[in-house]
Amino acid sequence: MKILAIDTSCDETCAAVLDKDTVLANKVTTQISFHKKWGGVKPSVAREKHKEFIDDCIHKALVSAQLKFEQIDAIAITVGPGLAVALEIGILKTKELVKLFNYNVLDVNHIEGHILSLFLKNRKNKYFTIPPELPFLCVIISGGHTQFVLVKNFREYEVIGGTVDDAAGEAFDKVARLLKLGYPGGPIVEEISRNGDPNKYILPRPMSRTNDFNLSFSGLKTAALVKLREIYASKNHEIDKDSISFSPHSNYYSTENIILSRQELSDFAASFQNAVIDTILIKLKKAAKELGIKHVAITGGVASNQALRRAFRKELKSIGVAFSYPHLKFCTDNAAMIGLVGYYKAKEGIYLDDVELLDRRPVMELSITNT
Ligand code: KG4
Ligand code: ZN
Repeated sequence: MKILAIDTSCDETCAAVLDKDTVLANKVTTQISFHKKWGGVKPSVAREKHKEFIDDCIHKALVSAQLKFEQIDAIAITVGPGLAVALEIGILKTKELVKLFNYNVLDVNHIEGHILSLFLKNRKNKYFTIPPELPFLCVIISGGHTQFVLVKNFREYEVIGGTVDDAAGEAFDKVARLLKLGYPGGPIVEEISRNGDPNKYILPRPMSRTNDFNLSFSGLKTAALVKLREIYASKNHEIDKDSISFSPHSNYYSTENIILSRQELSDFAASFQNAVIDTILIKLKKAAKELGIKHVAITGGVASNQALRRAFRKELKSIGVAFSYPHLKFCTDNAAMIGLVGYYKAKEGIYLDDVELLDRRPVMELSITNT
């Protein structure tokens, strides 16, 4: 069964072709350079760039899979969660293709895609990385979401906790913006953290004592801002402290105003990264203990962070919990993971009856999905 998959939920235009659970092609046209100057994703730019890139991205995926449109059996499309104006472009393209080729339609939840990215196979019918055994606890750590999800079976989920405000990736992006490091912040913070001391600056682990599996990264971001002000003040730097903000329009932190030395910047980034990792780990270990979890997996853009992977591996090993993660190319947004959800839905015969019913669902929740 050949599936063409499309994802335009955020700032990457993605198309993939799968044969059942095997990835034949996976193309991602990144828009990063167009969003950089805004210090984050600008929805109107995302929409325009998806429009510009989508045909070429699909074409490249088909060429790489050595298939023609006529050889595709079904189309899998992300309907949410994501940016409404961006989701719309993939949906419009899907409707156009269905009218031309009469494909069966599989509507997909993007978060479910991140979860199933752990189970993608290569052309040799081997998993890209060793997948977790069911049931397992999946930690989705992306730019839009940070959630603990109990995966009881394929397509059977229970959200047990997550961030009450910002996502972990969002916090990386905001702190990177504060330090004028560029966008997306995660990979840059990881890079400059390599030479830093993760215990140099004391930052909090918000909500670590609450009796639930929830997290807060907005609190951590604010604490990072306060800490930075303190560092500036300790250097007697003459600044109007109130003008420091996370606003992308604030020019206060122009590069020349960064008065941190290279080492201080590395220490600050490493301390922040450490706080993010620790904040998640505290609640993850609590969940593992209280719920008797034997397998944990991470997915989403932040799951590509090597320091996070190292810390999780070590801590989970110490409590006898197995640990899995997707191949790096399937951590950040991609359409292969959307195609795999589509395949599982197709196996159950869950197609969308009428393509005209296809609509974007920007705040779609991950529910016990059987439809
Ligand atoms: O999963 P993803 O591609 O998109 C969403 O669905 O949100 O995640 C993107 C997020 C961004 O916030 C980016 O800064 C973060 O993942 N990210 C990282 C790393 N690579 C990407 N965060 C920390 N370390 C990384 N290496
Ligand atoms: Zn994503």
